[in-house]
Amino acid sequence: MTISRLNPAAPQLAQPAGDASSLAEASYRYQRRWSWVRQILPRPLRRALRLACFLTLDGLDLCLQRREEMTPPRWLSPVGDGDFAATGAEFCDHFIRLGGLAPYHAVLDVGCGIGRMARPLTQYLTSGTYEGFDIVPGGIRWCRRHITSRYPNFIFSLADIRNPEYNPRGHVAASEYRFPYDDGRFHFAFLTSVFTHMRPPEMSHYLEELRRVLAPGGKCLSTFFVLNHESRRLAGLGASAFDFSCRLPGCWSTNRQTPETAIGYEEEEVGRLLVDKKFSLQSLSFGRWCGRTHFLSFQDIAVFAKQRSESGREE
Ligand SMILES: C[S@@+](CC[C@H](N)C(=O)[O-])C[C@H]1O[C@@H](n2cnc3c(N)ncnc32)[C@H](O)[C@@H]1O
Repeated sequence: MTISRLNPAAPQLAQPAGDASSLAEASYRYQRRWSWVRQILPRPLRRALRLACFLTLDGLDLCLQRREEMTPPRWLSPVGDGDFAATGAEFCDHFIRLGGLAPYHAVLDVGCGIGRMARPLTQYLTSGTYEGFDIVPGGIRWCRRHITSRYPNFIFSLADIRNPEYNPRGHVAASEYRFPYDDGRFHFAFLTSVFTHMRPPEMSHYLEELRRVLAPGGKCLSTFFVLNHESRRLAGLGASAFDFSCRLPGCWSTNRQTPETAIGYEEEEVGRLLVDKKFSLQSLSFGRWCGRTHFLSFQDIAVFAKQRSESGREE
């Protein structure tokens, strides 16, 4: 069963927000250009090459004084060399338009990285609050020093969770981690490019935690690589930026050695997990990543709401 059949009311959005389509196009080209590196090079070598490139570009930024306010150096980045500010602005727009985010909301950013989404939200959440957590210490340190110092309602927390791609030496399994927040605390939560690095037991547990910390009626926006007939057809034509050909229990990856490099889910599996965790799908907007010509963003974007009752109605 496809997601759209699980919830026929869920619109299949394809209108780009602002210049989202040109950003998606740039990400698509970037990922296609470097996909062979992800597949061929072992993780340590990939990381070392990336670091060398980014340190060189950071040096140039420093000499030319061209780094913007609240923009971290590239070497800290877990999110490639995309346009940091523009991608943040793009998603802020998605949060408002697709997720119903309001300036007074309490917001949770799961896997907040180096503050790419927090940066534009500092200008939008005028009376709201923001909590973000991540598993990489450097990003959290940077966000505290450069964002919380100016916007005390923006709080960043570190979780020592294991992820073979981002924090291989972490001590806690994601599938056992309790989010450090009270029940019903947030109006809105989001995960941008986080479930694209997590396997089913971890994702399933995070959905449970999201449900716990969301207030009645709370919504969550998450990006995915959703695998379906269309994405496979395009992959077969050689149009996809990712080759999800490694089968794992409940998901697919592009990389057998370190599957968390990029993880994709069958559309049915995403729908099943959402229903299982008592979320109702509000919208699913397909992305450019697999070579689509009609798309909203680079990755696929799902918005789902916490259901009120056992009968499955929203709160
Ligand atoms: C591609 S980056 C995206 C960062 C950020 N969401 C953004 O869009 O800029 C993936 C992020 O997920 C984080 N991550 C991976 N596994 C995680 C987990 N189990 N819990 C929280 N964050 C996780 C990584 O540390 C990394 O910062």
